[in-house]
Amino acid sequence: MTKAKTALITGASRGIGYGVALRLAQEGIKTAIVGRDRKRIEEAAKKITEVAGMQTLAVVGDVSIWSDCVSVVEEVAKEFDSIDVLVPNAGVGVIGSVEESNPLDWAVMMETNYLGTAHIVKAVLPVMQRQGTGDVVAIVSAGGTKGYPEWSGYCATKWAVMGFMDSFAQEVITQGIRVSTLCPGGVDTVFWDNLNKDMYSAGSVGRSKLMSPADVAELVMLQINLPRNVLLKNALFFPTNEWH
Ligand SMILES: NC(=O)c1ccc[n+]([C@@H]2O[C@H](COP(=O)([O-])OP(=O)(O)OC[C@H]3O[C@@H](n4cnc5c(N)ncnc54)[C@H](OP(=O)(O)O)[C@@H]3O)[C@@H](O)[C@H]2O)c1
Repeated sequence: MTKAKTALITGASRGIGYGVALRLAQEGIKTAIVGRDRKRIEEAAKKITEVAGMQTLAVVGDVSIWSDCVSVVEEVAKEFDSIDVLVPNAGVGVIGSVEESNPLDWAVMMETNYLGTAHIVKAVLPVMQRQGTGDVVAIVSAGGTKGYPEWSGYCATKWAVMGFMDSFAQEVITQGIRVSTLCPGGVDTVFWDNLNKDMYSAGSVGRSKLMSPADVAELVMLQINLPRNVLLKNALFFPTNEWH
């Protein structure tokens, strides 16, 4: 049973972030969830509050903007006594060969996936340092461990996150802060519907065989439930139908 009482999850109005927030709330953890769209994030918080019976705080913010991350953490720290768990999860994907890609899409992905993670980690750090304890469990991607054709821009952002987290983990391990990276393969979310190419489209057989956000939440729980002297540094996991 985890001792964590509070958690902050970015990109949690739907998909993996929502699934993680719901599970943590069901485990009795007070959660704050972040997204850019006010209506979506407030509705998600309402739903988690109803389903899990735990009051969930909706916070509007864009993780690619540093000052937003500072405000988000200020707001959560004011409402909660602590921030025991941080799950940097917000991310976007645009794919295509290098030849056909628009460099502006690479920039947006870098700003959201990499800088969005780095910003929220840096903003939460002083809170965890004051506490002398904390868990940062970043949702990265299998694309942070190898390259995939047509995913060069996306993979680059996830490799950036892995490099950042590996260095950060070593800086804070002696401060009671554990840092782990979760690298899932395909997960059944709206991510695939919003993708600019038709892969794992809604209703397809491939889509139905992907993992669920609840499966990813299971890994988050595994890490935060481990004894404090143990760290699951990295987990790479796939649906059993996916080639890896
Ligand atoms: N689905 C997969 O197969 C898969 C596999 C491996 C890794 N991942 C990674 O897992 C994470 C979540 O993916 P998902 O599939 O759950 O995606 P999703 O269903 O598209 O959800 C993305 C969430 O992030 C929020 N978001 C996007 N940009 C944001 C920003 N700049 N600031 C704050 N919130 C932002 C979105 O809400 P708003 O638009 O309202 O901000 C939404 O709540 C991403 O990092 C993704 O790369 C996904």
